[in-house]
Amino acid sequence: MKTIIEPFRIKTVEPLRMTTREQREGILREASFNPFLIAARDVLIDLLTDSGTGAMSSEQWAGIMRADESYAGAESFFRFRDTLRRITGFDHILPTHQGRASERILFELIGGKGLVVPNNAHFDTTRANVEHSGAEAVNLMLPEATDPKARHPFKGNMNIPALEALIARVGREKIPCVMVTVTNNSGGGQPVSLENLRMVRAVCDRHRLPMFLDACRFAENAWFIRTREEGQRGRPVREIVRDMFDLADGATISAKKDGMVNIGGVLLLRDHGLFHRASNLLILTEGYVTYGGLAGRDLEAMAQGFEEVLEDDYLAYRIRSTEYLGERLRASGIEIVEPPGGHAIYIDARAFCPHIPAEKFPGQAVACGLYRVGGIRSCEIGSVMFGGAGRPAPAMELVRLAIPRRVYTQSHIDYVAEAAGELYAVRSTLRGMRMTEGPEVLRHFTAKFEEE
Ligand code: F0G
Repeated sequence: MKTIIEPFRIKTVEPLRMTTREQREGILREASFNPFLIAARDVLIDLLTDSGTGAMSSEQWAGIMRADESYAGAESFFRFRDTLRRITGFDHILPTHQGRASERILFELIGGKGLVVPNNAHFDTTRANVEHSGAEAVNLMLPEATDPKARHPFKGNMNIPALEALIARVGREKIPCVMVTVTNNSGGGQPVSLENLRMVRAVCDRHRLPMFLDACRFAENAWFIRTREEGQRGRPVREIVRDMFDLADGATISAKKDGMVNIGGVLLLRDHGLFHRASNLLILTEGYVTYGGLAGRDLEAMAQGFEEVLEDDYLAYRIRSTEYLGERLRASGIEIVEPPGGHAIYIDARAFCPHIPAEKFPGQAVACGLYRVGGIRSCEIGSVMFGGAGRPAPAMELVRLAIPRRVYTQSHIDYVAEAAGELYAVRSTLRGMRMTEGPEVLRHFTAKFEEE
């Protein structure tokens, strides 16, 4: 059968609230033209993020009822730990409340002033945590990664010559670890090949450096390896996932993505001493080592979610449904980051509205336009997110349509494509934005705008 269907049926439904275009006009103004400031009840299709917005399965909900809420040594912790051990092969496993908590603990321990952390593409919270420790965060992407049109099967790969050059320039003693983000969220949700991960490992071995994964979307990355990489085709996803983790000395994971939960995170470590220090910091700031700032029920939901995400039917549907949205947008003439990523489609806002210069935030204009036309919430990833405080203009002006896991059906996605097509047809009417308020860092969350 050619059609790939949603491999689930719906047991509980949540109504969506329709709004008129006129109402949305007022709501947008109220929210100072920042979709983050719109109340969720006023959003029809919410593609702001795929993080913590997924639907849980009946087995996850059953686990929630079964959970052991003991403070120390709860059954739910052991189920969570054993699942992660089975999947990743790591022995030392700490639960945290979300990805950035794992990042904060890791970089408080290994970061610091004068140090440099290379990554294929730091996610914004990872960068913020590296910088908060006093270290410098450096992105080492492939040249193709900043050209939306360039089609590379593993556009998320680490730029190996650039990594070698960085190590030669700053010296290995200045580098606490080399990090690889799978898939590279900020660069289009693009995967990293197993071959590239092995090359990073080889560089790390040569220079005796630890290698860490930011493994939020490890299962989506493994699916791309299975379907695109020479020599990997058709291998069981679990084996590929294991190969990925076997290369690493540690990993930070936000379980709000491929963990298929609404809240949760993981920190994986091999080094016993580092694990000991991380455990102490976890107790200090998050909670005891067997719950890490979560309830037992959250650990149960994660234990089940990390298993479900590895099912072939799920991953085939997940990656295909994202690609489908990309194809529909492309058919309307909209340019996107090619090829479609795993968790999101990124519209090239520069190509969408070439009449709006970077300093007038073309991505924000497109994001507001999508809300106006269809009540769709998306997220600017461009000059609003990365600009300000004298930083250079980012290489791309993008609008991310992130797809929550197991939430929207194909007709929802058809609606999104139709609304985006309508907006594209009148793109010359889109107006630039003026930022009237904005903090120095992570300003996309709270910035306010006026339309020109
Ligand atoms: N690393 C990556 C690659 C991410 O995409 C995120 C979160 C994090 C780390 C931090 O995890 O939110 O659990 O603290 N990304 C979300 C997004 C917020 O919308 O892409 P967290």
